[in-house]
Amino acid sequence: MHPRQIADVSKITVAEILARKGRERVPVLTAYDYPMARLLDEAGVPILLVGDSLGMVVLGYPDTTHVTLAEMVHHTRAVARAKPNALWGADLPYRTYDTPAAAVATARELIAAGAEYVKAEGGQEILPQVQALQAEGIPFMAHIGMLPQHVLEEGGKYRIKGRDEAGRQRLLDDARALEAAGAFACVLELVTPPVAAEVTRETRTMLTIGIGSGPDCDGQVLVTPDLVGAFPWFTPRFVTPRAQTGAQIRTAVGEWVRSLQ
Ligand code: KIV
Repeated sequence: MHPRQIADVSKITVAEILARKGRERVPVLTAYDYPMARLLDEAGVPILLVGDSLGMVVLGYPDTTHVTLAEMVHHTRAVARAKPNALWGADLPYRTYDTPAAAVATARELIAAGAEYVKAEGGQEILPQVQALQAEGIPFMAHIGMLPQHVLEEGGKYRIKGRDEAGRQRLLDDARALEAAGAFACVLELVTPPVAAEVTRETRTMLTIGIGSGPDCDGQVLVTPDLVGAFPWFTPRFVTPRAQTGAQIRTAVGEWVRSLQ
């Protein structure tokens, strides 16, 4: 049994997570189904995300723009059955939050499926949506920097953000606006490490959660299959897998197949 199960079985809340800013690094991992949510919770991960990255690493789509709300609800319900102690939430999928009313309607479906917060991609351009979610009392995690839902608009490339002064200023302005609108956390994806560090210093009531953005963020998020080698056909350059479960499955299954010959 993991120590946290003995020492601390309390449910993790947004307030408790926010109190960690500046005191300890917060690990965040994606979970898409019941067993993985249970395993990550038992390992003591304090924040889980039903990320729309499930489009690639679970459903086999080329990018996240294909993920539907019905698919997100299906996976959110599976994670809910694990009853995580972690604070956990789900992504609003592509084009389901084009207006404040749409954002609230989509978020309500995910909250009804069990999610405790929702995440959406964008900065100042989605502030009305963030404010509408806030007015509904729905905890919100922001996501700025490289936005996977906009990969097609970026010519199919996942580009690093914050490289020039205009990009740096934009990220700082977005982060400040999202914090003022009430976001409790903000994913910084593929942001240059000095700018990610600056956004982290410049925010007080919003955790920064980096992915491919250097070490100086309040927390770090990874796509779990990348971390455990469960999607061996592609690993982002900033991830060092801690296990090779894909290779282990091939070996175990191959041994069993041969044992029957
Ligand atoms: O979809 C996802 O898994 C994400 C995380 C990588 C932050 O957005």
